Amino acid sequence: MRVLVVGSGGREHALCWKLRQSPLLTELYCAPGNPGIAEVADLVPIAPDEIQKLADFAKEMSIDLTVVGPELPLTLGLADELDERGISVFGPRQGAAELEGSKVFAKEFMARHGIPTAAFRVIHDAKEAREAMAKFGYPVVLKADGLAAGKGVLIVGEQAEADDALKILFEDRRFGRAADRVVVEECLEGEELSFIALSDGERLLNFATTKDYKRIGEDDTGPNTGGMGAHSPSGVLSGESASGVVETVMRPTIAGMAAEGRPFIGVLYAGLMLTDDGPKVLEYNVRFGDPEAQPLFMRLEDDLLPVLASGAKGKFEVSRLHFRKAATSCIVLASAGYPGDPVKGEPITGIGAAREVEGVEVFHAGTALKDGKLVASGGRVLNVCGSGPDLQDALKLAYEAASKIQWPSKVLRRDIGRRVLTRET
Ligand code: AMP
Ligand code: GLY
Repeated sequence: MRVLVVGSGGREHALCWKLRQSPLLTELYCAPGNPGIAEVADLVPIAPDEIQKLADFAKEMSIDLTVVGPELPLTLGLADELDERGISVFGPRQGAAELEGSKVFAKEFMARHGIPTAAFRVIHDAKEAREAMAKFGYPVVLKADGLAAGKGVLIVGEQAEADDALKILFEDRRFGRAADRVVVEECLEGEELSFIALSDGERLLNFATTKDYKRIGEDDTGPNTGGMGAHSPSGVLSGESASGVVETVMRPTIAGMAAEGRPFIGVLYAGLMLTDDGPKVLEYNVRFGDPEAQPLFMRLEDDLLPVLASGAKGKFEVSRLHFRKAATSCIVLASAGYPGDPVKGEPITGIGAAREVEGVEVFHAGTALKDGKLVASGGRVLNVCGSGPDLQDALKLAYEAASKIQWPSKVLRRDIGRRVLTRET
């Protein structure tokens, strides 16, 4: 099979690494990819938002399956475009990608289908926002409706912070048109985790549980990022609770989308808060989590390619996925300044030594080649992933390997998994 992967992060590197192991694979292309992905796929210089160019390339190269990493091309209609040209794609059409593309759509959809989520109101200006915030009390959460690169959620701790949040949304218009509508919602308490499954429009194939660490600072402090680390299993969700999530969240979501004429083919990712009243959905994503995908692909036993190819055609050829008993982890190495303006251009050393640690893989995210040398070129730069008999070993191996990689502005969280491990013992 000839496969095209769209994206350029650690998630896409891990995806390409996994697909490369398939005996069914003949050609693997990645647009635009990164220097790490170039080790396992042919890079194609097309950006993820260049929908027509991507579809032209897929047609020209007789691609059998396209797998889309990030959300942007999906919300821009890449799956629709490929579908119309008769190219198989694993990823939702634009109408189904609304689950991530519009928080208002997602909240109203959950309300229509009785899917547990925080109580909310949709507002359009500062006056309505004040009324809604007064109703919910503090802390309270404000969410820009549209895509905002993971930064469109404001948690307002107390009334004194309300003016600042409203100024960001309605005066400075930091999120532009993405904040034409805003969701005001009740602030939930509990442990967060990600639940990820594949859907062929009707059926679900659940991934093993996973947890990511969103804040930049240790002990979950500082601003939110795309994710600074992850592991699988999550260590916070028992098998029984996982079936609860499937029954109360995942199945009703897929059934609801089908009933509304927006069948969901692709990756369904529910960001959950485990509250005292049970799991509640914080957000949907319509793609693999990054960095959650990295430890998940390292644990997955099955050949992913026929699973995605059959799902894209509307019927999975298997009824479940298999995961190794081993635990896996992912430590994100970022450049100082992230999630704001990261330092760029510094040369990276030690990836070879890190890869020599048994059970370790290193996936590239924000790296580039400058004068033949590998340099840091983004916020999240590398993902160091470990596999071991249990979570403790998996994390220890990843940290050992991570310490071998150097560049002057390298930063990482040293507490990935710590809280989960302390609680278990
Ligand atoms: P989202 O993009 O909706 O997942 O929001 C980003 C982050 O904000 C989540 O991962 C949570 O940490 C936090 N968050 C979102 N909604 C809520 C909520 N209703 N209560 C508490 N925290 C929330
Ligand atoms: N790690 C969170 C996300 O991919 O959205």
